[in-house]
Amino acid sequence: MAESVEADGVGTADGNTMELVVPSLAVNAELCRAAVAVFAAGLPFTLAELEQLKVAVSEAVGNCALHAYGGEPGRVRLLAQLAAGAIVIEIQDWGRGISDVALARQPAYTTSHDPDHIGLGFAFMEQFTDALEVESAPGEGTLVRMRKRPSGQAAGAAWSG
Ligand SMILES: Nc1ncnc2c1ncn2[C@@H]1O[C@H](COP(=O)(O)OP(=O)(O)OP(=O)(O)O)[C@@H](O)[C@H]1O
Ligand SMILES: [Mg+2]
Repeated sequence: MAESVEADGVGTADGNTMELVVPSLAVNAELCRAAVAVFAAGLPFTLAELEQLKVAVSEAVGNCALHAYGGEPGRVRLLAQLAAGAIVIEIQDWGRGISDVALARQPAYTTSHDPDHIGLGFAFMEQFTDALEVESAPGEGTLVRMRKRPSGQAAGAAWSG
């Protein structure tokens, strides 16, 4: 399996960037998940790692709709970059913000009263990526940044001998 993707002969995927700005609708959480999975395939991630990235993105984008905007319309920005063999993903909102980020990141911490939300979104993001940063200020919004590097076993590597 090639280690980089040729894009119409203009170079490799390294340095590639993608930016999406969408309303915080459920249908767009699906769009962000799918877009990141396709974009990330420019690096030799395994299928399992691509699934992990999709979950991490879903959790972050879902948080924008649920917590940042409380179900009201709002804007979500997804930025993805391939650089130095890793993917960096940013998910940003301009919603309510988080007053205590360290507390919010604790597993099982949630401000939701819905039993479907058990406070594991940040825990998944942390577990499924190599690094997670959360920048937030009350009333200003939140920026979640995740970085992940392929483990080295590309999808299909088993077939290349
Ligand atoms: N984008 C955001 N804007 C404002 N608050 C947020 C945002 N993301 C997370 N939070 C706060 O951090 C808490 C923890 O988030 P986390 O994703 O870990 O759990 P959850 O969303 O409550 O539940 P789950 O992800 O399991 O459905 C949330 O309950 C919320 O208070
Ligand atoms: Mg969540």
